[in-house]
Amino acid sequence: MAPLLLVESLKARYGPVQVLHGIDLNVFDKEIVVVLGANGAGKTTTLRSISGMVETDGRIEINGQSIKKLDPSEIVRRGVAHVPQGRGTFPELTVEENLKVGAFIRSDNDINIDIEACYQNYPVLYERRTQTAGSLSGGEQQMLAVSRALMSRPQLLLMDEPSLGLAPQIVEDLFTRFVTINEEHGTTMLIVEQNAQLALDIANRAYVLESGEITIEGQASELANDDAIRQAYLGA
Ligand SMILES: Nc1ncnc2c1ncn2[C@@H]1O[C@H](COP(=O)(O)OP(=O)(O)OP(=O)(O)O)[C@@H](O)[C@H]1O
Ligand SMILES: [Mg+2]
Repeated sequence: MAPLLLVESLKARYGPVQVLHGIDLNVFDKEIVVVLGANGAGKTTTLRSISGMVETDGRIEINGQSIKKLDPSEIVRRGVAHVPQGRGTFPELTVEENLKVGAFIRSDNDINIDIEACYQNYPVLYERRTQTAGSLSGGEQQMLAVSRALMSRPQLLLMDEPSLGLAPQIVEDLFTRFVTINEEHGTTMLIVEQNAQLALDIANRAYVLESGEITIEGQASELANDDAIRQAYLGA
């Protein structure tokens, strides 16, 4: 079976500095895959490469079709949504306006149905629907960022450190909800995380990125029990 996302020999640079040195990574339909790695390893650059925001060498394919050199908005149309590090909601717009922006590629009549579904997923967003995104708490902004990405009805959701800056209980709720979304909508997820424990709990497979190279890959449950991983990423 061909993967939903295929990344092969991916290289990326910022000016003269090469950051990714030839990454191979696959995500299959309906999988949750996590990428672990220290600060500066190139996790964000990997996700930005997939969504067309960084110039790259190598192969990037969705459903067997190259998405390289496409505009970021065209990549959204191909089924990829990206929740950037630091959330990336529009602070001046209300919660509901942010959700509508997330549906910018759609012209069908179900947008309001999906907004209702977001409110059911995260009732606090319904309470805050007329408030600006900038006035939300960190956890609420993260819920909004994920909901906004889902409004494009993505096949593949890229999430860059969704737990960053959130209290443990909020993170747990957020990740539990990711599993629900994955199961109910069949949304495939590629998640970059520093919170290795929780990420490995919900993921099927995992990769470790070190200095722009994949050094370890395997089943999430195996990595969670690996001594080197435990020492480096699980504080064991
Ligand atoms: N716009 C940029 N211009 C120049 N260098 C950059 C740029 N963005 C990232 N870098 C460099 O590329 C390397 C990888 O950065 P990246 O943001 O991908 O790492 P990361 O794994 O996401 O780290 P973190 O966990 O801190 O978010 C770092 O050395 C960083 O300084
Ligand atoms: Mg990053």
